[in-house]
Amino acid sequence: MDRQPGFDPLSWAVQDDRARGVFRVNRRAFVDAQVLELERRHIFERCWLYVGHESEVASPGRFVSRNVGGKPILMNRDSGGRINVFFNACMHRGAQVCRETSGQARNFTCPYHGWVYGDDGALRHQPIPESYSAACNANGELDLKRVPKSASYCGFVFLNFDAGAQSLEDYLAGAREYLELASLHGEKGMTVLPGSQSYSARANWKLLQENSADGYHADTTHASYFDYIKSREGAVKNLYAAKGFGRVRNLGNGHSVSESLNGTPWGRPTARWMPSWSESLRGALEDVHRRMIDRLGEEKATFICHGDRNLLIFPNLVVNDVTALTIRTFYPLAPDYFEISAWGLAPIDEAPALRDLRMRNYLEFLGPGGFATPDDQEMLESCQRGYAAMGGADWNDLSRGMASEDGPNPAKQDELQMRTFWRRWKSLLADGSRVAA
Ligand code: FES
Ligand SMILES: [Fe+2]
Repeated sequence: MDRQPGFDPLSWAVQDDRARGVFRVNRRAFVDAQVLELERRHIFERCWLYVGHESEVASPGRFVSRNVGGKPILMNRDSGGRINVFFNACMHRGAQVCRETSGQARNFTCPYHGWVYGDDGALRHQPIPESYSAACNANGELDLKRVPKSASYCGFVFLNFDAGAQSLEDYLAGAREYLELASLHGEKGMTVLPGSQSYSARANWKLLQENSADGYHADTTHASYFDYIKSREGAVKNLYAAKGFGRVRNLGNGHSVSESLNGTPWGRPTARWMPSWSESLRGALEDVHRRMIDRLGEEKATFICHGDRNLLIFPNLVVNDVTALTIRTFYPLAPDYFEISAWGLAPIDEAPALRDLRMRNYLEFLGPGGFATPDDQEMLESCQRGYAAMGGADWNDLSRGMASEDGPNPAKQDELQMRTFWRRWKSLLADGSRVAA
């Protein structure tokens, strides 16, 4: 094997040998600054990236500001009701015109020299305006710049820095069905809950995308959580150990989902009761299920209420619909360091007791202080430390279940979801091509 690879991912980064059932990723893909530079150029500058949820800018004047794909972004709903996605960079010298993470504003006044922009991005005022010639902003070139493309699907707002990118709907491919499912929990729609969680990991960003739908690690990494559930609920089957439990689907364009029906030992706020929960919660959750059957039919309602789904949208969006419904996105600042933001998503019309259950359930498992996330973080950082052993141990193995991956139901514990990600990663980096149909 070439120990001194160049930067052609076809030749060195991924071994995808279907005939032998062997799939390996070179660990240099997790540590090399030049790889990160290629990812920035050919993935983050070309793919649709999650910005936020429409509910975060539900009414005119609402805004959020955050980094997306490494750039400062401002999303708002203007007085006309339109959702805008701007670069949060003043057209004068570049300062961020919005310094709050969320709020309500009809204008954005740059704190550096005081230029004022309307909520539609138009430059409204410059101090001492007589100092400027009429030509200076004749064609609105000093208005806030919109990102090249933005669009939303089922309430999830995305942007693309590539003006020539394919449509969001085409890009999402089979993931559309699962974003729609996430949007259907509430009769009156969905809302992002107030507040968010921001944390970081001393690891490569791709490790979290791999981890987020990895059924293989659950029984071992999260053994303490399953012990806790067992002590609380009584006997819990070791479901993850059973080959064939749940399935994974390749959703196209690097997206995938792992899913199961009534296959996990935890309860769901939409809507699966656990014996340790009160009888009144049982009635409320069964009522949610019944009303959803009236709205969506038996099959879809039961899949939403009693199923679990981990949706991966390439490159860096995860929608976990398990112990709670959460949105996670992340971005690398260095090959071995990335930042994560997470939000809870809930039915707008959720009863207070169920909302309380949701919040507790979210924190218990997925929150950064919960039973799952700290264990996962430790494993990601442990892997990253292991990559210092390159020169002797150079390859990650992702071969599990490869021989049967084209079968009807690839198992949840197999590694098809990772291979789906890496195949897309490889194709985008290999040719530097646009994400076009
Ligand atoms: S940088 Fe914004 S007004 Fe000068
Ligand atoms: Fe995990």
